[in-house]
Amino acid sequence: MTHRAAGWKIRLRIGADDAAIEAVFRDCLSDFPWRASHDVELIRLRGTVSANHCLVAHEPHAGIIGFLALERRKAYVSHLFIKHDWRFCGVGSGLLQVARDMARAPLQLDVDVQNQTAFAAYRAMGWTEKVGPVPGREGQVRLSGP
Ligand SMILES: CC(C)(COP(=O)(O)OP(=O)(O)OC[C@H]1O[C@@H](n2cnc3c(N)ncnc32)[C@H](O)[C@@H]1OP(=O)(O)O)[C@@H](O)C(=O)NCCC(=O)NCCS
Repeated sequence: MTHRAAGWKIRLRIGADDAAIEAVFRDCLSDFPWRASHDVELIRLRGTVSANHCLVAHEPHAGIIGFLALERRKAYVSHLFIKHDWRFCGVGSGLLQVARDMARAPLQLDVDVQNQTAFAAYRAMGWTEKVGPVPGREGQVRLSGP
């Protein structure tokens, strides 16, 4: 997917993207003051990115501006992070749209109950809350995409 006006495009991750993906992730960690250890989150990210499909949004001057990790068979999005400077530009919805096409099924993801920013964004994109708790995901709510 290419956004001609904004200049970014979405493609599959290559190994050379990993440092930039981690930089985007670090840029976003301040959004999660309730999460315990950033080191643990980083280790989890590395495992997820190497074991699953990962899409990146790339802009020629800024480099990697966002990424999404997808467990394709489950149509489950484990990570979606957009650099602060690039939010409200359609990057998040663009990544979700490409992931939806790859999974060929409505996507699901878990959001921290404290993450009101993400809730507002997903609501705006037509996502809905799955009824009932998800085992092993205390403090999170499962959402389903359109
Ligand atoms: C949540 C997040 C991925 C949204 O990405 P984004 O690129 O800014 O989203 P988009 O620009 O594609 O916006 C999609 C829609 O959500 C809305 N939206 C985005 N952020 C919003 C916010 N903070 N409050 C209200 N609405 C918001 C947009 O206005 C747009 O709606 P519209 O089409 O009706 O105009 C981004 O804020 C982010 O990376 N947050 C930190 C990490 C995070 O919480 N990830 C999710 C973990 S589950």
